[in-house]
Amino acid sequence: MDLQEYLESVEDLIDKTIFRFFGDAPGDLNKASAHLLLAGGKRLRPAVVMLAADAVQKSASDRVFPAALALEMTHTFTLVHDDIMDRDSLRRGVPTVHTVWDESIAILAGDVLYARAFELICKADSDPASKVRAIAMLAKACEEICQGQADDMSFEKRTDVSRGEYLDMVRKKTGALYAAAAGIGAILAGGSPQQAEALHNLGMTTGIAFQIQDDLIDLLTPRGTSGKDRASDLRAGKQTLIAIVAGERGIDLTPYKRDLTDEEIDSVIKNLEDAGVINEVRQIALNLVQDAKKGLSVLHESEEKQLIMQMVDFFVTRGF
Ligand code: IPE
Ligand code: IPE
Ligand code: MG
Ligand code: MG
Ligand code: MG
Repeated sequence: MDLQEYLESVEDLIDKTIFRFFGDAPGDLNKASAHLLLAGGKRLRPAVVMLAADAVQKSASDRVFPAALALEMTHTFTLVHDDIMDRDSLRRGVPTVHTVWDESIAILAGDVLYARAFELICKADSDPASKVRAIAMLAKACEEICQGQADDMSFEKRTDVSRGEYLDMVRKKTGALYAAAAGIGAILAGGSPQQAEALHNLGMTTGIAFQIQDDLIDLLTPRGTSGKDRASDLRAGKQTLIAIVAGERGIDLTPYKRDLTDEEIDSVIKNLEDAGVINEVRQIALNLVQDAKKGLSVLHESEEKQLIMQMVDFFVTRGF
């Protein structure tokens, strides 16, 4: 099976399960909680949980499936709250939760998803000690995400953020959840501590690269393809790696801290491309993934290991 087929099969399984459990939820809060879950999404974190499980123990993903769903709940919770913080109106091709309902309901909807994640992970068919480790890992990741999001917001007020500060911020806001996805899959499948650690590290580093690619997508991909607001990062004055590398080359993006037309966005892209900024940022993401893959030598060869390798390449080649 190639990666695309595999991802489609996971997407299908997750979509069907979500529809079954959340398709006709009664009441405003339940509807708001289900809104983004039902809107789709790439379902990459569940795929990481399942691949990590199968890579350490053939066919373990069946037993671990509730945890895959738990990671998607956690991710969706962060998206609902992130859209409030980033003042975005489009997500997964549909209006964001706080724009359909209001901020109070969106905060609560995110909280409901957050709680459900922990409920679901308890339902994995694994030994209790592994489940405790997995739950602790998810809790730690959630705390890191909050810290990363706090840094992301506070960086909007600065223009002197370094590459190191950026990498540390995205490690927390995005790397931590991919690390937890891979680590939890391995732990619940009964993998050794070395295997779980290697997969956790892989998720962390490639999650950083995933966020760098997300920053590129924010600028380069039209709304119709990404399903999200375009150039939201420029509008907010986010200190992305693009903004930081641009600053190093004398390009100041602060004048674009406002609503922009497509023509204005295209002209920013051209400036950044001509100055080599886009290529350099892309290369940093590619290098992170290349280095991270070397850490997987503790895993025996398997179809799933190959799919994990392809998956992390996809993190930095995807266009949405
Ligand atoms: C978006 O994640 C948020 C980030 C961490 C960059 P995805 O690109 O995985 O979003 P969905 O789940 O496919 O909507
Ligand atoms: C947020 O990063 C990552 C999360 C932890 C939700 P972004 O703010 O760049 O994510 P998008 O672009 O809105 O999906
Ligand atoms: Mg954000
Ligand atoms: Mg955002
Ligand atoms: Mg983004």
